[in-house]
Amino acid sequence: MHGLYLLSRRLSDFFPVPLWLKLQRPIDSLDFVLPDWWPTELPKNSGTYLEIGPGKSLATAIRLWLNGNTVTVWDLYPWLNSQSIAGQFLQALSGDCISSNRKETLKAWLKHPKTQFPEGFIYSTGLVALRELQELRSQSVDCVYSIRVMEHIPVQDLHKLLRVMIGFQKSDGIGLHLIDHSFHATHAKGSGLSIGHLAYSNLWWRLFHSQRLYHENRLRACDFHQHFIRAGFTIKDYKEWVNPTSLQAMEQKSFKLSKEFLPYSAQEICVDQSLWVISSGDII
Ligand SMILES: C[S@@+](CC[C@H](N)C(=O)[O-])C[C@H]1O[C@@H](n2cnc3c(N)ncnc32)[C@H](O)[C@@H]1O
Repeated sequence: MHGLYLLSRRLSDFFPVPLWLKLQRPIDSLDFVLPDWWPTELPKNSGTYLEIGPGKSLATAIRLWLNGNTVTVWDLYPWLNSQSIAGQFLQALSGDCISSNRKETLKAWLKHPKTQFPEGFIYSTGLVALRELQELRSQSVDCVYSIRVMEHIPVQDLHKLLRVMIGFQKSDGIGLHLIDHSFHATHAKGSGLSIGHLAYSNLWWRLFHSQRLYHENRLRACDFHQHFIRAGFTIKDYKEWVNPTSLQAMEQKSFKLSKEFLPYSAQEICVDQSLWVISSGDII
């Protein structure tokens, strides 16, 4: 479970503390999302992971790699050059992660940093939905994960991305996806109300939020449910966090939704974060 533990530490960075407190117990493991159906631990020392959209931080990916797994990270934008990747590897060396002989490989690599990364670590850039990864075979990945990425995929690309993902995932592998549905601008200002983006019409939103990288697709968690199913995934577990300030505003009718969002229930509208465990095959 070590890989999942590290992943959860990364996830915990992105939840405001009060939300975590609501879960009653400290989150020091992703055990809480892994339900009874999960037959074994994720493979250690032989697992294959794919992180989609790590942005500027490779902390999780590097730790998974140090733990003996094969890791591919894939981001739309080349945030990192080999030097900053080397810097992050160096930092990880001094960290508390349990590592194997990979530590020695890494020390050797760091003495002569080359553009080629240490064996078993692949950094690729490009639009996931529109590109095939040469380095990965189909059905070769034990765990595909993403953290606050899915809400940035334009709706018209989402199905294709999910189909690419299901193609890489082993039939007994899992997908772990944390989706942040809150209005990111509001989020940054620290305001409690997180649904400000739902006041605008689709037309307005398309006109003013067309940039791909910062695009927010405004899909609600229930829409993602449909998308995952349509792409062929089975939902193995799901957790959602409802924003109480937004819910109060909805119940008091003090917030005016654009008509596109009227068919949703207040609860559906106010889900701020969702966490999905999805599989591509039937696991008993
Ligand atoms: C909000 S950032 C999240 C970064 C990181 N996961 C985190 O939690 O800090 C979204 C990231 O997804 C990447 N991204 C967006 N669309 C993508 C796509 N279609 N394929 C790959 N990466 C994508 C962006 O370049 C960006 O690095």
